Amino acid sequence: MSRADLEKKPYDVATMFDGIAKRYDLMNDVAAMGQVDMWRELMVDALELREGDRVLDLAAGTGTSSAAIAKAGGRVVAADFSLGMMAEGRRRGAPVPFVGADAQHLPFADDSFDAATISFGLRNVHEPTAALREMTRVVRPGGRVVVCEFSTPSWAPFRAVYEKYLLRALPAVASRIASNSEAYEYLAESILDWPDQPALRGWFQGVGLEQVRYRNLSGGIVALHRGIVAT
Ligand SMILES: C[S@@+](CC[C@H](N)C(=O)[O-])C[C@H]1O[C@@H](n2cnc3c(N)ncnc32)[C@H](O)[C@@H]1O
Repeated sequence: MSRADLEKKPYDVATMFDGIAKRYDLMNDVAAMGQVDMWRELMVDALELREGDRVLDLAAGTGTSSAAIAKAGGRVVAADFSLGMMAEGRRRGAPVPFVGADAQHLPFADDSFDAATISFGLRNVHEPTAALREMTRVVRPGGRVVVCEFSTPSWAPFRAVYEKYLLRALPAVASRIASNSEAYEYLAESILDWPDQPALRGWFQGVGLEQVRYRNLSGGIVALHRGIVAT
């Protein structure tokens, strides 16, 4: 199995990430053209952490997103279902505990965290609303749920250029750098297939999250959605 398809069967997705784990972060930096650190900083801001807050970083991969949260003072648990991604994170000394978990069935009690977040992961989950429901369940009333995900650029001419980049340039770059360039065809297809900002806001509201807001980053290449768990 070299790449998943838009059905996103959990076994296929986990196997694909196992296969790209070693070069995932390098390829991420290149594909995002140096923007990824800024996106992570803004994701951490959206969590509005207080010292010692317990944070679930879901679909944490190699733990790069989790490390940004830990640096800001969060007591973070990094959860993922790709053992390969987590092993690579451990090998590199990511300063966070890793837990094997499927986003759709989290192994945590209700109200265990002050906040839960998922960066560039929700798009890969077979049933994303099930993951949002689980994130909402494990966060205490009044806590925050934040999703950082690729989205739809708001300016149509830029959107057209970006789509060409995704479908043509990105796989070409990946074939030189990544361990499995076919995974980056999946990346492009899954981004283009993903709901836009208002649709994702609707999913947040559908699982009962309140005060739901989003903001576009880099012209809407990425969007940050945030909701508050009902009290
Ligand atoms: C693109 S990586 C993101 C890693 C990290 N959050 C970051 O920002 O670099 C996506 C991760 O989602 C994980 N993932 C996808 N579906 C999942 C699921 N149902 N449960 C847990 N992890 C999942 C994959 O294993 C992969 O490590």
